Amino acid sequence: MCGIVGYIGSRQASSICFAGLRRLEYRGYDSAGIAVIKDGELTVRKVIGNLNNMEDSLENKPLEGAIGIGHTRWATHGKPSVENSHPHLSCDGKIAVVHNGIIENYQELRKQLTEEGHAFKSQTDTETVAHLVEKYYNGDLREALIKAVKDLHGAFAIGCICSDSPSELLAVRRFSPLVVGIGETENYIASDMGAIRAETDKVYVIDDDEICKITSAGIEITDLDSNPLTREPYEIPWPADAAQKGGYKKFMLKEIHEQPDAIHACLAGRLSAADKPITFENIGLTEDDIKGFKKVIFTACGTAMHAGHVGRFVMDKVAKIPAESDLAAELQQRDPVVLENTLCIVVSQSGETADTLEALRAMKKKGAKVISVINVVDSSIARESDGVAYIQAGPEISVASTKAFTLQVVTIQLLALYFAEVRQSCDTAELTRLKAAILKTPDDIKKILDREDDIIEVAKKFYKMPNALYLARGINLPSAMEGSLKLKEISYIHAEAYSAGEMKHGPIALVCPEIFIVAVVCQGPTYDEMIGNIMEIKARSGPVIAISYDGDEKIPLTGADPDADPSDIAGGPNEMIYVPRTEEYVSPITIGVPLQLLAYHIADLRGEDIDQPRNLAKTVTVK
Ligand code: AGP
Repeated sequence: MCGIVGYIGSRQASSICFAGLRRLEYRGYDSAGIAVIKDGELTVRKVIGNLNNMEDSLENKPLEGAIGIGHTRWATHGKPSVENSHPHLSCDGKIAVVHNGIIENYQELRKQLTEEGHAFKSQTDTETVAHLVEKYYNGDLREALIKAVKDLHGAFAIGCICSDSPSELLAVRRFSPLVVGIGETENYIASDMGAIRAETDKVYVIDDDEICKITSAGIEITDLDSNPLTREPYEIPWPADAAQKGGYKKFMLKEIHEQPDAIHACLAGRLSAADKPITFENIGLTEDDIKGFKKVIFTACGTAMHAGHVGRFVMDKVAKIPAESDLAAELQQRDPVVLENTLCIVVSQSGETADTLEALRAMKKKGAKVISVINVVDSSIARESDGVAYIQAGPEISVASTKAFTLQVVTIQLLALYFAEVRQSCDTAELTRLKAAILKTPDDIKKILDREDDIIEVAKKFYKMPNALYLARGINLPSAMEGSLKLKEISYIHAEAYSAGEMKHGPIALVCPEIFIVAVVCQGPTYDEMIGNIMEIKARSGPVIAISYDGDEKIPLTGADPDADPSDIAGGPNEMIYVPRTEEYVSPITIGVPLQLLAYHIADLRGEDIDQPRNLAKTVTVK
């Protein structure tokens, strides 16, 4: 995702901002920019590509000024280019803004501002903010920014400066993270503490709809009605060199914890309330297309395929379109018959996976309409699709995919509900219930993340075991598959996932004290059968970790330790991991998170190189 920084003090703002952008580099970006003010003059420098280009540019032609803002851009609206990179300016060039997030209503605002005479230079949602502030500016930058953000819908963390108000740096947020760094005679803003940890270990963490007026001598925080807010400074507990990962030990753990915010970014512009219709822009499908589809085929590789398997369930369930899901390599081998009115949905984090790209081309050749569910904007798969639904997860650095899986599932579930609304294939009450459940997932995931210590205790009991078997049924089987993939790829424990209904047809032969079983028993139509599976496993001395909903009193916990006497067959799981109760339709999202944390902490206890597992690459661009 994008990163913002800002500085006001007595030193060169461009140097401080550039150093901050360097420390945000791990977030991934495709362009960068800095704006400074000196002697009433605002100057902007933008580059595309690597930050080295910015470094060269600043060395050749330094930017001078004691106030400035900077930005690394991860393209969400508009391709990577100098015009689209931030900071964006007002018409008169006196106001500059940087932004992380998504302005949902930017198109209508852009239209209105254009009609009022504002000239736009980029395709971005962010430039709208610069013109809005200009529209409202009458000498008080803070008031102008408040009026501007009151017009905005969506997620944002914004930094703003104005050459007519050179002694103040403004910052405001909603849903996108923002901190204000506290110095002695200088102050800072940043998307995350890591960007400014080298300058200060004290920050104010800013909450939604709070605005900050920052000078070199002080920081005022208010709400959008200008009511002053008091805030205790937060002392950053980790050293500057841990900053790259925002204080997390590994990118994978950081990305697991980013999921609540990332879901907000994914929902922005698509689902604002349970009683509002879902909207998707630029997915290249007309309502007639959607009404006409007779078959949907999901295809992908690895983690993305597991998200595609969830898609198969939800397309049938709510959109009432017969759906299937097939690995990209297998789909090509199978060479299926593709009848007219077939939609192929290609799922990929990188948008560059060779097998997936080949499958896309094969399905297009057979006459299928192809859309993709992608993270990386303007990637090869995105460019070759008839339409794209971007998951807005922000850059995923760790080889083991976590937030991308969750956001792929969220995006696919939204698509299915969108199709259901267009096809009127699902009653309004059910649609409202399912949309409400999706809107609740950021809070559900926050609750699960708050239970991380419990999951670490479970990991401590099982991390030495050589084998694992993940069991689930129905819509939760893909999450079990994903959980087993996470475990095998970062801990090197042999793990596989099976439909629990298959146990009697072979896998139960594996059950013994040396293989631990992860069983997803979230209440729903498959609950009683899953309890039966657990009893069968316990009767054969298999240690079981069960995942179920908060408040599940039915499940008979043994509480026995896997090292206890194997004859302990009290019947219930050895360990429980609880998740907030939700609609079964949405459970793949919440089930995925504890399985990510379990895999991470088992691998961590085994001392493995989690972010760079052996033999693996983040993107498999070869067949
Ligand atoms: C998942 O943790 C792995 N990194 C791998 O299975 C990955 O999901 C697969 O290679 C597909 O990548 P893509 O989503 O970028 O297409």
